[in-house]
This record gives sequence, C-alpha cells and structure tokens, in this order.
Amino acid sequence: MQISSHIAQVVCRALDWPAGRCAEVEAGLAVPPDPSLGDASFPCFPLAKERRMAPNQIAADLAARIATDQIIARVEAKGPYLNLFLDRPRVATQVLDEIRRNPDTFGSRDLGRGQTMVLDFSAPNIAKPFHFGHLRSTNLGADLARIFTFQGWRVIRKNYIGDWGTQFGLVIWAWQQWGEEAALEARAIDYLVELYVRANRASESDPAVRENARQLFLRLEQGDAEIVRLWERFRALSLEGFHRTYDRLGIEFDSYDGESAVNSKVQPVIARFLKAGVAHESQGAIVVDVADVLGREIAPCMLQKSDGASTYAARDCAEAIDRHERYGFAANLYVVSRQEDHFAQVFAALGKLAVAEGWPENWPALCENVSFGYVRGMSTRKGEAVWLEAVLDEARDRAARYREERAATGNRAAPDLSGEEQVAISEAVGQAALLYFDVSSRRMTDVTFDWDTVLQFEGNTGPYLQYSHARMSGIFRKSAEAGWLKTPEAGDSGLLVADEEWAVVQELRGFGPALTRAAIQREPFELAHYLYELCSVFNGFYNRHVVLDESDPARSRARLALVSAVRTVLACGLRLLGIQPLEFM
Ligand code: ARG
Repeated sequence: MQISSHIAQVVCRALDWPAGRCAEVEAGLAVPPDPSLGDASFPCFPLAKERRMAPNQIAADLAARIATDQIIARVEAKGPYLNLFLDRPRVATQVLDEIRRNPDTFGSRDLGRGQTMVLDFSAPNIAKPFHFGHLRSTNLGADLARIFTFQGWRVIRKNYIGDWGTQFGLVIWAWQQWGEEAALEARAIDYLVELYVRANRASESDPAVRENARQLFLRLEQGDAEIVRLWERFRALSLEGFHRTYDRLGIEFDSYDGESAVNSKVQPVIARFLKAGVAHESQGAIVVDVADVLGREIAPCMLQKSDGASTYAARDCAEAIDRHERYGFAANLYVVSRQEDHFAQVFAALGKLAVAEGWPENWPALCENVSFGYVRGMSTRKGEAVWLEAVLDEARDRAARYREERAATGNRAAPDLSGEEQVAISEAVGQAALLYFDVSSRRMTDVTFDWDTVLQFEGNTGPYLQYSHARMSGIFRKSAEAGWLKTPEAGDSGLLVADEEWAVVQELRGFGPALTRAAIQREPFELAHYLYELCSVFNGFYNRHVVLDESDPARSRARLALVSAVRTVLACGLRLLGIQPLEFM
C-alpha cells in the first residue's frame, strides 16, 4: 500500500471515521514546509466545525490516539497540525520497491476509472493561420490527454477542425478572383492563408466582397456541387499540413471531425430548442437568452442568423449533444482560449434544453472550458504569422547551435554520435524547450516567450529536465563500466538515511499527488513544476554525495537504486508532457 494511503487510514481510524472517508483525509495531507516539523502533516482546522472542537484540541487528541507502527515513527501535535515523522529506512525501501515494480504506473491513482472524457483541443481552422493559441491548445490538450489517460480515464481526443463558416465564402471568393493552380500545388496551406488575408483586406474597402462571400458560403451550405468540390479540396490540403505537424509532435486524435461534420445535425437541434420553448425568434434570428441563468450581462446564444446561416454556437450545441450520445461522457472539456463568452453561452443554452427536455444528467456541469493565457514575444524567421512547422524548425536549429556552442567550450556530453542522431537530439531538445515553456507557468498566466531562456540547460526549462535525465543515465553508464558493482539495480534502501537522500524519497512520494492536482485542476503546470523540484532536490543530493564509491559497494548500490527510481519517475513525467527523456545531450 502507498505510504500516504497508510497514513490516511491511521488518521481516519483515529478520527473514528468510516473507511469511506480515507480519501478525504488523504487529500488533506500535506508536507510541512520545514522537514524538522515532520514528514507529513494533517491540518485539523477544516474539522473544527464538524467536531465542534478547537483545531489544536483535535490535533492533540489525534496525536494521543495514534500509535507508532512500521511506517509512522513518531507523531506530534503542533498547534492545529498533526505532524507525523516517518521511519526513513522502511519508507525509502517501500517507495523504491514500488517504483521498481510499477515503473509505468507509479503515481497513478486511477481517478477516472470507468469514466469517459471528451477532450477538445488544437482545433485549427482550415485556410486560416494556425496561430499561437492553437499551438498552446495543442500542447496543453495533449498533456492533459496523457495525464487523464494515466489517471485511468478513457479519453476521446477530439480535433474539432474549423472547417465551416463564412470564412470559406471569403476564401472561395478570393480563389475565384486570383486563384493560381500552381501556387496552390506548391504551397497549399500557406497559399490559402494568403488568399484569405488578401480577401479580408479587400473586404475592408469594399463591402460587396463580404456580401459575395456570404452568398458563396450559403451556396456551400446548400450543397452547390462546384463550391463543395473547392471546399473539399482546400480542406484536404490543409489537413495534410496539420498532419505533418502532429506526426512530428507525436500527437494523435481519435477524431478529426470538425464543424462541417456536425452541420447536418444542426437544424434538428435548433428545432428541439424551439419546440422546448428554450429558443425564440429575435429580429429574424433564433436565439437562447442566457443572461438569466448566468446572472450577468451577456448576449443571447445565437443559433441562427437572420439570413438563415447556422452559427458557430449552434454547431457547438449540436456537437456536444452528439458527443454525449456517442460517448456517454462524464466530462466534455474544451482547451480553448479567449472564447469564454462563447462557451458560457453554449453551456447555458444546453443547460436550459436539458432542463426543458428532462435529461437526467446535470448539464451544463458536464462541460468545461479549459482556457489559457496569451503568449507574447514569439516570432520566427518567417515574420509575424506563427506557423507551427516553422517554429519547430527554428527550435531544432537553435538547439543544434546551442549544443555546438556548448561542445566547443568543452561540454561534450555525448559520445560519438552520427549526424542523424545529432539531428534527432536537437529536435528533441528544441521540442522540449518549446513544449515545456507552455507548462512552466499556470495556464491562465500571460507569458512572454524568449528563445534564449527556454533553450538553456540550466534553470526552469525543458532542456534542464532532459539534461538531468541524461546525467542520471550517465551514472548508470559509469556503473556498468565499474566491475566492482555486481548487481546495480537492487540495493539496501535502508542505508538511505542522509537528509538529502530522504529529501529525494519524500519528493518521489509527491509524484502521485502532483498528478492528482494536475488532473483535477486541469493544470499540466503542476506536473512540470513537480519535475523541476524533483530535479532540483536530486541535484542537491548529487552535488553533496558520491553515488559510486568503490570503498562502500553496499551504499553505492543503495544510492544507485535511488538514482534509478528518480530516473524512472522523471522519464515517466517527461513523457506525460510530450518531452523525450534523453540519454545524452
Ligand atoms: N476552431 C476554433 C478556433 O480556432 C476553435 C474550436 C474549439 N472547439 C470548439 N468546440 N469550439 O477558434
């Protein structure tokens, strides 16, 4: 059993609570800020009301009732806190054993067992630039998908491509005006964006352009064969481009069905809204008032425009209902920024329909917009438009230059690598720099990107974590060479009693809780921050103690087992963030 579950059980029993409340106790456990206060603590103030007792008294009572055992060496009440001191050798042995036995699942609490979650992320628009919001959504969404899967959810990764809407009228109009077959063949997605940007500019000086575009989109919605053919071609070309990028990042989706795929379901859903008396007509449009349920001033949710065209909101309503019928989800998450009002409107409208039609589930609580802040400061050689492909190339090339510079100053960490291996490492380091940056702060924080900072092998960066992993791997390479270490993996963890060693063990115990926070708060930062701390604590140990000491093989083996456990957890955490753990840098 996990140490924290054991502590929770003991405290739960001392509280005279049923076993069912152990999880509650476990969630309340904390690590004291100063190790001299204890290795785990249980704050009692949240219980004061329920027990009608002062928190200090509760802590004192608990301390008196808890007997020491093979895990808990000592208990102490300190103000409103119950502090517990653990048996270091026993706990170290248990934690390292658990990691060794379950290298791929250590840290999972199986929170989502039996539940399906739909995760809507990335969702770029066809013939529009794949901008920074999409990059961050792709990255955060992929991280969350891996974290939820690790925590036992069945995750449906949904790439709800923006492949429908009036912008297509604009692109088709532009194509009819200026379209060049050769340019489309050669540059596909870039060219479509150029056309879109050019048409947009034209529409600013000439209102007729918008009107033409609107007409063309209506023809598309009505199934005009010629227009549909063009649209299909543009869509296929754009998707090809998106796939190249996803492949490079190793990201897959379960469905790429976008706005166009749900289009046929929109009219029946609007009819349901009308029939239930939830939607009404307003100046020729069809809308659902949501200000009443949301309790704030907000425009109604528009399902149909006055010219009869369907809306983004109507498609999202139909899509959410379709997802529920298809997957029976327990949660439906949208990793999208700067569309807070849109999602508030859609969720509130669905909530009203749910009540009117008497659905059993608690809509809109099933749906959630996982939003995020803005990234400033990114530009590439290509200029302002942020093309993911170009950003990835730049990251790889900058990583290669940085590695060459380091090698030139004597930091040659890697043995003889082929050119191909060099490129693969630079690609992995570049991606780590880029991807880690997104999760190095809480998602709602606005951040400023800076190439030089994110690529450093020191500091709170992706390459630093990879570098730490490579250093740990280096210790194993060395131990393999050392003939005097017979069985490098198993060691007597009871010898790990130094403060720095214990700090590492304690940090390892924090992996599960960090993953739980990451899942519950929808916050990959919690995992990233944990990994950074783990590496810092590990490096604190490594700078102070010699791992491979020929005069003390038993202790060397124990320390090697500790390094092995850290490396296992770090590699697992990095993979959850889409970052490749490296053997060399
Ligand atoms: N394509 C949209 C955009 O780029 C994002 C779609 C998000 N998902 C959704 N179900 N609305 O702004």
